[in-house]
Amino acid sequence: MPNTKIAGVGKYIPEKVYDNAYMESIVDTNDEWITRRTGIKERHVSADDEYTTDMATIAAKRAIDNAGMQPEDIDLIILATVTPDYFSPSCACVVQNNIGAVNAAAIDYNTACSSFVTGVVMADQFIKTGFYKNILVICADALTKAVDYKDRATCVLFGDAAGAAVLTADDEHPGVLAAEIGADGTGCKAITSLAFRNDPEEIEKRISGRKETIWMAGQAVMKFAVKAMADSSTRVLEKAGLTYDDIKLVIPHQANYRIVESAVKRMGISDDKVFLHLEKYGNTSASCIPVALAEAIEEGLIERGDKIILVGFGGGLTWGAVVLEF
Ligand code: UT7
Repeated sequence: MPNTKIAGVGKYIPEKVYDNAYMESIVDTNDEWITRRTGIKERHVSADDEYTTDMATIAAKRAIDNAGMQPEDIDLIILATVTPDYFSPSCACVVQNNIGAVNAAAIDYNTACSSFVTGVVMADQFIKTGFYKNILVICADALTKAVDYKDRATCVLFGDAAGAAVLTADDEHPGVLAAEIGADGTGCKAITSLAFRNDPEEIEKRISGRKETIWMAGQAVMKFAVKAMADSSTRVLEKAGLTYDDIKLVIPHQANYRIVESAVKRMGISDDKVFLHLEKYGNTSASCIPVALAEAIEEGLIERGDKIILVGFGGGLTWGAVVLEF
């Protein structure tokens, strides 16, 4: 049975920046509150004519290039987003066309901010069964297009980005060692953005009245997140027969440094084993983990042979963790 190796990674961050001073100019907030409560200093914002598939396409090309492959080598593209350009076609089909991945099947999916871990787990199944060899997992979101800029409790949190990875079948490399994904639908109303459903109660919650904007019960999500990330990481480690001493780096979903801080405490590991970039980008939904992975590799924090944990939580509510040898 082949193993699943990360062959290459890529990221794209839009140029425009909203710093905390800018946020102060549009809502009743301040740098001190945002920094102390979230750790965020800046978030990047897609241009008015720049959408999810535009960002996804660039990250995808970079990941394929980084893997030393050609677009024709890709057998499957799975793309996660909560801000699609269209309901149909899927974003994965648009990207397939943009990059010329003519041999790839293409699927969109959504487990919100947990989606990169979900994508790795799905790719791992296709690879281990021999169904596909090279799978491109893309996470991309233009969340700022769905942010309610009248709601200070959410608008300071989110930014835009795309991250991608090519996963490949490898008989020698240990690759994905253990993983889990999960969902708790009782929390389905904790983070919402509406599509066609007419849901007056949900619309009422939105200060702007725009139903597609993001609404969140921040405290409830925070409580869920700490336990979900810490316990999920620990379970996959146990499943792999490893301990945190074997792990070089934990890459968590980057929603709020307080969530990460509490989760790290619950895992019983030191802060220097955890990669954080949320100061620069804020919460970019599913893109957080693959962008962080790409940056950790760029910065030399992870080398081939190192064992790492990727762990996320998100709307749904969902969670997932994977331990792998890079
Ligand atoms: O990716 C997955 C989804 N996202 C998350 O994981 C986010 C999870 N939640 C969080 O990160 C935190 O709950 C927040 C950062 C959203 C909020 O932090 P908190 O410590 O839970 O604050 P809070 O909602 O309890 O609000 C405390 C106070 C309130 O004022 P009062 O009622 O005490 O007078 C809020 O109105 O802070 C106020 N507040 C703000 N003040 C200044 C809320 N947002 C702001 C703001 N600036 N931007």
